[in-house]
Amino acid sequence: MSTVNTFLNIGELELQRAGIKSDAFKGETAVVTGGASNIGLGYARSLAGAGANVVIADLNAEAGAETQRVINEENGRDCALFVKTDITSEADVKNLAAKAFEKFGKVDILINNAMNMRLNGKILESPISDLDQSYAISGRGVALAIKEFVPGMQQRKHGIITYSATQFHYAPPMVGGTVYCAGKAAATSVVMSVANELGPVKDSGISVFCLCPAGVMRFDASKMPPPPPPKPGEPERPKFDFEAFAKMMTTPEQNGAAMLFSLLHAEELHGSGVIHNDVFKAMGYPFSDPKPVEIPGAPQFRRLTDQELTMVFCEMGDGFAS
Ligand SMILES: NC(=O)c1ccc[n+]([C@@H]2O[C@H](COP(=O)([O-])OP(=O)(O)OC[C@H]3O[C@@H](n4cnc5c(N)ncnc54)[C@H](O)[C@@H]3O)[C@@H](O)[C@H]2O)c1
Repeated sequence: MSTVNTFLNIGELELQRAGIKSDAFKGETAVVTGGASNIGLGYARSLAGAGANVVIADLNAEAGAETQRVINEENGRDCALFVKTDITSEADVKNLAAKAFEKFGKVDILINNAMNMRLNGKILESPISDLDQSYAISGRGVALAIKEFVPGMQQRKHGIITYSATQFHYAPPMVGGTVYCAGKAAATSVVMSVANELGPVKDSGISVFCLCPAGVMRFDASKMPPPPPPKPGEPERPKFDFEAFAKMMTTPEQNGAAMLFSLLHAEELHGSGVIHNDVFKAMGYPFSDPKPVEIPGAPQFRRLTDQELTMVFCEMGDGFAS
């Protein structure tokens, strides 16, 4: 575990193991929305660990302030800035940009990662306000951030825009979450349309791509409670195998390494994207368990195969010529 004492539930960065140099992003400044938790936190810490300055934009003030403190302490330099931001608010995003430019002078990398993961119901069973909020974070929020940070990238002919989305087509029955998928579809439409607006990287200097996470969470099977006793007349529930479930997950630090590897290859990915698992493969990254995992008692849970993930992703296209 990291030597920094924190409530953020972090582990050691994986940059060295993934072959990413500690100065690979020296001189770059990145904004990570939703950067105070799980995947975004892994991205922000990894970027700072590879020499970048990072701006963390998140609704959660307590975790955001702690993220700033931890990143500065880990790196022994004043390289992190937290700005409390509701990404759906134009005023908040303008304030985020003002604070980022004031401290670091420019922004080179925009990672649109924020989402409210509880907006995950079915259309027929959810209040319409859930769908509004899903679109607001994933569509409006992404567009607001792009409008603040991309003009500077255009001036300097240097920049990368990326975002986190995997279920952006329609909700597969295995995973569900129609309201969530609709928001991710909005993000995909906004970001990939901007890729098209910007055109080839050789002209704009700006690369745009999607990084699709899958099963990212630090999961401690030993802390999971036993199943509740069955109600009278109900059969006993099968015991959920949390150990097997934990094996399916990858950590925020591993995904941070995958993001940095992808950022280093952003020009090749422009107008399209890549799945975390395929990035791990490209890095020659050792998986703890590369085989599909069946979970006794919960057959609906298993690691998605790369092919399935690719099918989720396949309609995004081959990317634009750079
Ligand atoms: N975890 C996975 O396996 C997985 C898989 C596929 C895609 N994703 C995507 O990756 C991203 C990160 O996922 P995660 O698991 O780390 O989620 P998370 O819930 O742990 O973190 C999301 C962060 O976004 C912040 N946030 C929520 N609403 C916000 C708003 N309006 N403005 C600013 N910040 C806001 C939250 O405070 C939180 O810190 C999400 O976009 C998610 O859809 C995750």
